[in-house]
Amino acid sequence: MAGDITILRSPQERRPAAVRVAPSILSADFSRLGAEIRAVTKAGADLIHVDVMDAHFVPNLTIGPPVIRKIRQSTRLPFDVHLMMTHPLSYLEAFAKAGADYLTVHVEACGSRLPAAARAIRALGVRPGVAVNPETPFARVEPYLHHFDLVLLMTVHPGFGGQKFMRSVLPKIRRARQWLDRNHHPAILSVDGGIDEKTACLARRAGVTLLVAGNSVFGNSNYGRAIRSLLA
Ligand code: DX5
Ligand code: ZN
Repeated sequence: MAGDITILRSPQERRPAAVRVAPSILSADFSRLGAEIRAVTKAGADLIHVDVMDAHFVPNLTIGPPVIRKIRQSTRLPFDVHLMMTHPLSYLEAFAKAGADYLTVHVEACGSRLPAAARAIRALGVRPGVAVNPETPFARVEPYLHHFDLVLLMTVHPGFGGQKFMRSVLPKIRRARQWLDRNHHPAILSVDGGIDEKTACLARRAGVTLLVAGNSVFGNSNYGRAIRSLLA
């Protein structure tokens, strides 16, 4: 799947990559999670973004494998599972069995264990992703990028939905785009945090191929219109 995002022909002639949208269910109505997922699926979502928080890596606590296993029945869209966890490696198998299609671990949590994490995720039949906090420099993740199918750049401090997009991350997005193009590496380049109509445009211009959006989708009474507005 990652391979069809960017098609390189020649340096002068890069076909613009298709940009996709992953609504983050952190902003959905948790009392009707299945119905919310069916609604964004019908409204044109491309993936479902699932935020897992351990109350240690981030000061918030959300859901784990049992909930993911249940909501797996509500859509056929891929699950993009974002692990905001200090010790994600011990739980990879549980998330894979629950139905994750992408498992994204943080560079701040894994450091030099990133290649091992990517291998473990692939061995489970899942695509590996790496996430980077706003204040973490690109140089910290660069040596590991070739191991991953998805690069998730945080544009808010992780932990909560509804925060303001940090424009200070835009140079890092551009740098990641350049690195992926230069190395002909077809990974998905994703942004997460404060994505709305305006900031989506900035992120798309900087070269992202996947927009994660919580509040701007689930906070809109028309999910289809909200998703389309991110791509306009
Ligand atoms: C924040 C999460 C995000 C969050 C984004 O730590 O990783 O996925 O749901 O929410 P919005 O789009 O509301 O900033
Ligand atoms: Zn997230």
